[in-house]
Amino acid sequence: MCGIIGYTGNKQAAPILLNGLESLTYRGYDSAGIAVMGPGGLPQVYKKTGKLENLTASLNGNMPGGSTGIGHTRWATHGGPTDANAHPHMDCRGEVVVVHNGIVENYIALKRELVAEGHEFSSQTDSECISHLIERYLDDEFPLEESVRLAAREIRGANAVVAFSGREPDRIVGFRLGNAGGIVVGKDDEGGAILSSDLPALLPYGREVIYLSGGEMVSMAHGDAAFSTLEGDPIEKKSVHIPYSPLSASRGGYKHFMHKEIHEQPESVINALKGRISFDDLTVNLDEIANTAASVDEIKRVMFIGMGTSLHAAMLGRQWMETLARIPCEYDNSSEFRYRNPVLDEGTLVVSVCQSGETVDTLAAMELAAERGASQVTLCNYPGTQTTRIADDTLLVRAGLEIGVAASKTFMSSLVALYLLAVEFGVRRGVLGEEARRELIGELVRLPDLLGKMLLDEDRYMEIARRYGRRSDFLYLGRGLGFPLAMEGALKLKEISYIHAEGYPAGEMKHGPISLIDRQMPVVAIAPRDSLRDKMLSNINEVKARDGQIVGIITEGDEELAQRSDFTIAIPQASEALNPFLVSIPMQLIAYHLAVHRGCDVDQPRNLAKTVTVE
Ligand code: AGP
Repeated sequence: MCGIIGYTGNKQAAPILLNGLESLTYRGYDSAGIAVMGPGGLPQVYKKTGKLENLTASLNGNMPGGSTGIGHTRWATHGGPTDANAHPHMDCRGEVVVVHNGIVENYIALKRELVAEGHEFSSQTDSECISHLIERYLDDEFPLEESVRLAAREIRGANAVVAFSGREPDRIVGFRLGNAGGIVVGKDDEGGAILSSDLPALLPYGREVIYLSGGEMVSMAHGDAAFSTLEGDPIEKKSVHIPYSPLSASRGGYKHFMHKEIHEQPESVINALKGRISFDDLTVNLDEIANTAASVDEIKRVMFIGMGTSLHAAMLGRQWMETLARIPCEYDNSSEFRYRNPVLDEGTLVVSVCQSGETVDTLAAMELAAERGASQVTLCNYPGTQTTRIADDTLLVRAGLEIGVAASKTFMSSLVALYLLAVEFGVRRGVLGEEARRELIGELVRLPDLLGKMLLDEDRYMEIARRYGRRSDFLYLGRGLGFPLAMEGALKLKEISYIHAEGYPAGEMKHGPISLIDRQMPVVAIAPRDSLRDKMLSNINEVKARDGQIVGIITEGDEELAQRSDFTIAIPQASEALNPFLVSIPMQLIAYHLAVHRGCDVDQPRNLAKTVTVE
């Protein structure tokens, strides 16, 4: 949460910082600010409550000069979204400016000490104490890098901080403590060094980047970036090549990133399959999980973990793994798993789904699993991120940059990777014979084409939005593979349209939720043609008997279900295995069109940030 950017080089910093913040707003949008080094080594700070546009408007076309600066887009934790609480924060002597992501857990004690020493504070944030703390050490003996290092050692909690000072006007220093949102460092071709909390701000300058780990620092000046530990030992860091184009950080003719990303799914599925399946003999080849594959027969249990949409993908992964590889499987929400003292040993494989590679609870759950000797595969969209460094193997989902706060194509691509993983395990453990494997992969090959056709016409979704746009509650019901999709559909709707929605296993309905049903309650029934379709029909009849409104997600040609529903969305005929992929499209588009109809801010829904880096 919170987006950070820093630049030092030969160009005017302010436009670079503002462009960078524009591409990072999905990380937080309560306020935004920049600070640039002004003449005579005097840092100039500009910050405004609300979205980045407010900051840009306040500059009124007067871009400050200076070729070194830092910027921030905020998701408030300590102190409300006000101009004073917006970052960057400067110490009271005007020496040090910082931007910060995370929570300084001991800030009350630090602030008390600093106030006693005569420091005056001007905000309610925990972040401000970092600028005072650095300033406390800054002198000839301890220049910026050393002062930042000393300050960093006093800060508790997971934090990412970037600082600069008029004492060394061309230098920017950043550090990372624990699993707070990342710091990624890159360079441009013209003697500039740039850092950011995420890739979209860096990719326009180059695709070779270096991620900071917890306990590491970077010091950038004169186009160079030097890395060290917080103890002061220099470290060599390898760069990672990012295979995504910076163009994907633009809307490309779509009104919203989310809409564009929904439409990119046929392509992202092709990318997720490329090189991993052979189109000739329909075999699977997952070189990336070589460590896990070598001991696949020793796995006694697979635990799938994730948060939000990634948890829903993990739930589907668990069902596929259980069915196709016949391994006992469980799933859990990372934030519960990390605190419930789970039984883990060498026989357990933990499969984490985390598109960002930075979700704090998933990182903590993975660290716990590593401590207890479990082996791990992680599914992630960005090479080199924190999750990929903890896991034994990484299966990149290869969705390309996803900017919309609501996950869409990363969900679809994660499903592809989970499905391939389950087939690979099934084959290696001798559960799936050649014929079964050919059938499963043969179906998957059809997916990009089927998704492309489903995305050709969105009139039905606009009609749903017109009909149900004023309803305040929705219920989503599904069984088997449909249950995680019901959860996902409800999450998407809540997230971007602010309509209250619940996802339930349809069999659970009679145990409580049925009392909610009346003619005001749209019930999205996920009922594709599969082995549980008839059970869903019974549930649909029960809803209809109580005057509920059924939006049926059915397979095309299913006349019986079409007649029982008030409104239908038909997915193409396909094998049962493909249904979860196909049903994902209506889950996304129903939410999208309802949100647009209600005038909601689809890409930046209130209170949310794309990557959750604080607990
Ligand atoms: C999805 O629409 C949400 N924005 C959110 O639930 C998200 O999936 C969750 O925060 C997990 O993120 P991750 O995949 O980066 O771990």
